[in-house]
Amino acid sequence: MGILDGKVALVTGAGRGIGRAIAFDMAKAGAKVVVNDLGAALGGGEGDEGPAQQTASDLRKAGYEAAYNTDSVAEESGGRRMVETAMDTFGGIDCVVNVAGILRDGMLHKMSAQEWRAVIDVHLNGCFNVSRAAIEHMREKGSGAFVHFTSTSGLVGQIGQANYGAAKMGIVGLSRILAMEGAAKGVRSNALAPFAWTRMIESIPIKSDEQARAFEAFRTGATPEHVAPVVSYLCSDAASGVNGQVFGVRGNEIYLFSQPRPVKTLHNGAGWTHASLAAMVEPSIRNEMTSLEGTGEYFSWDPI
Ligand SMILES: NC(=O)c1ccc[n+]([C@@H]2O[C@H](COP(=O)([O-])OP(=O)(O)OC[C@H]3O[C@@H](n4cnc5c(N)ncnc54)[C@H](O)[C@@H]3O)[C@@H](O)[C@H]2O)c1
Repeated sequence: MGILDGKVALVTGAGRGIGRAIAFDMAKAGAKVVVNDLGAALGGGEGDEGPAQQTASDLRKAGYEAAYNTDSVAEESGGRRMVETAMDTFGGIDCVVNVAGILRDGMLHKMSAQEWRAVIDVHLNGCFNVSRAAIEHMREKGSGAFVHFTSTSGLVGQIGQANYGAAKMGIVGLSRILAMEGAAKGVRSNALAPFAWTRMIESIPIKSDEQARAFEAFRTGATPEHVAPVVSYLCSDAASGVNGQVFGVRGNEIYLFSQPRPVKTLHNGAGWTHASLAAMVEPSIRNEMTSLEGTGEYFSWDPI
């Protein structure tokens, strides 16, 4: 018995990297899997049908049930067609894992509107398009689970990724509200920030020996195969009590992230003036302000 026996899963961006590992792990756990991948180049250029077809064919060769779809998650009609593939081939849709992603890195003062939109379209609008197409089926059935891929580039921050960080924080909001709206209907949604050695990480330029050493530890210590079982678990009925949360997975570490709540309240019964704001705000919150260190500095220990 696998924890996903009898379930149908759609995994976007499953032609490569983390998505491919998830497709395999979900199939191993008993799910029938629809593999979506546009075959996009990392920078968002031309794609090809190959990766989705390849993953589905490898799954079938391994004895699992799989179908594939090569639409873009960035298109509303693409999201609909992926879900139709699940309905037509396997008769339902129980789990949606929104993994598909691209990068168009650059400092905001050099970022074009096109680079901004491309990333928002694939990540944030992509999660909407696919989730929107699936959710009514789940609500009617009274059960369903989403896992949305976010990133510490948004949760913590990362220089050069304003478009990506904004999209990934938007995804956390989408997942949270989907969870709140779905709770009464048996529909759950969680977000997950992975750390895994894939071509996305390989694309980061190495600038020092220390960075090269850290990357090598990462390559072996934090893989897509570490992330995948956590996704299968979150999609399974074993996680029926887990909804609206934000997780991280890095090698053998699983993090539960905090979600924004006030950490301090300043109250001035007389009302605030420019002068009292200037005199009191910064000194009163100095010890509670969140530092500007980015994800690389925060997660400074090697994955093991
Ligand atoms: N690798 C990491 O450490 C890391 C860290 C934080 C977040 N993430 C997130 O995890 C997810 C997977 O990343 P990865 O490292 O496996 O990347 P990857 O580049 O190896 O895989 C992403 C896949 O998405 C596909 N894709 C891109 N645009 C698409 C579209 N419009 N429609 C359908 N498919 C599309 C690509 O073809 C590719 O196969 C992404 O959402 C990424 O932002 C990864």
